[in-house]
Amino acid sequence: MRIGVYGLGYVGAVSVAGLAELGHDVVGVDINPAKVEAILAGRSPVTEPGVEELLARHVGSGRISATTDGLEVAASVDLMMLAVGTPSTSSGGVDGRHLLTATHQIAEGIRTNPRPFVAVVNRSTSLPAVHAELMAELEATSGRALGDGVGYACHPEFLREATGLSDFFDPPVVVFGTDSAATTARCRELYPALDADVIEVGVGEAAMVKYASNCWHAAKVTFANEIGELCHRQGIDSSSVMDIFCLDDKLNISTKYLRPGSPFGGSCLPKDLRAVLDAAREMAIVVPMLQATLLSNHDQIEALADRILSDGPSRVAVIGFAFKEGTDDLREAPMVPVVERLIGKGVDVAIYDATLAVDELVGANAAYALATVPHLADLVSDDIIAVVNEADVIVVSHRLDGTVDWAEVALPAEASIIDTVGVDTLRAHPGYDGLFWPSTPGIHAAGA
Ligand SMILES: NC(=O)c1ccc[n+]([C@@H]2O[C@H](COP(=O)([O-])OP(=O)(O)OC[C@H]3O[C@@H](n4cnc5c(N)ncnc54)[C@H](O)[C@@H]3O)[C@@H](O)[C@H]2O)c1
Repeated sequence: MRIGVYGLGYVGAVSVAGLAELGHDVVGVDINPAKVEAILAGRSPVTEPGVEELLARHVGSGRISATTDGLEVAASVDLMMLAVGTPSTSSGGVDGRHLLTATHQIAEGIRTNPRPFVAVVNRSTSLPAVHAELMAELEATSGRALGDGVGYACHPEFLREATGLSDFFDPPVVVFGTDSAATTARCRELYPALDADVIEVGVGEAAMVKYASNCWHAAKVTFANEIGELCHRQGIDSSSVMDIFCLDDKLNISTKYLRPGSPFGGSCLPKDLRAVLDAAREMAIVVPMLQATLLSNHDQIEALADRILSDGPSRVAVIGFAFKEGTDDLREAPMVPVVERLIGKGVDVAIYDATLAVDELVGANAAYALATVPHLADLVSDDIIAVVNEADVIVVSHRLDGTVDWAEVALPAEASIIDTVGVDTLRAHPGYDGLFWPSTPGIHAAGA
């Protein structure tokens, strides 16, 4: 393809070098003439291992050129890549002005581009609202319809400075969030021979993958440092602790506990978190992230109760009461305070839990449950059909895979379903409301 790369900083310079090495004809664009001159002279405008060698080779072979005239480039390319800076506004938001300026110019260029379809692929880190603004600008100024004469993609960049080029050729994942199948097809031509998982999603999902990734990296560093400080103050080697922690790829370094859904609970996580916070207080150590974890979880439980109550229900069915499926442990189960609040508001509650037998609860488990919901036995039934019958809101907090065939449970058509665990078969119900997801799944992954 003939590709324009708008912005010749870290991301842009690596992209120019990498795309040329993959066989494309690449034109770099920047408003800074010094960066353009550097590229034209085969020098890298940024310090990134390997980039200068590739730039020199492909400027020499004629595959790379550069200019300050973005309009002219946009008028002659198959695909225009955006890699301009997205600095912070004074309130910390995304300053999309550079992107908007560049997109406006690109859209004007596309007006005169003889190709029937041109894709604009944004690699700059931007929030969904910024992408929406850029798509509107592209459509209005180019005079072409999105998904028809012009396409837009959010293609988040995951490279790390200092290993930018090797990350370009060996990305952890390739994500194309696009407006249309035509744009996705054009994006797929970017890396014909790359061995990486290719994920195709909507623009918003792709944008948020980048933010989720960077928030996660930041959270990991801070978590390790808070544990580091706790260990250090007790004369314990935190490197050794975290080395062992990282050996556990079943629960710790794994996909476990990383799906949005029910808040955490049970007899261990809240208790042990509180123990660590108490120890930190005694040592006068500040661990804001661990502290906020408990607060955030508490807020999520309250928010779930608010959401159920916002429907003004007379009767609520709760499917799954224990803190997780397959146990009857009610200690600090999130649904316990939710039910307590519903009852406090005069709502009728009926509970189905495949494992729970109230008269068999003993010890701390019984004490916690009955102190919070005294007439629990009257609310629980082992007949799921009777529990959901006449409910205005059905809260599903256990999947019941292998226990209940949802197709055989006659859910009242006018009821709202609040699904906190993602049961696919419930999505078709007209009142379906996923806790943090829509009724139609937004993601579909395809192998490279
Ligand atoms: N640096 C990284 O490691 C990295 C990694 C992933 C994603 N990103 C994202 O990629 C984007 C680019 O990052 P970067 O580090 O390459 O930025 P950078 O500041 O190094 O480069 C941005 C380039 O855009 C140019 N530019 C072109 N048109 C412009 C205009 N109209 N106004 C202002 N500048 C213009 C600037 O002159 C500059 O050369 C950002 O959104 C960043 O968050 C960066």
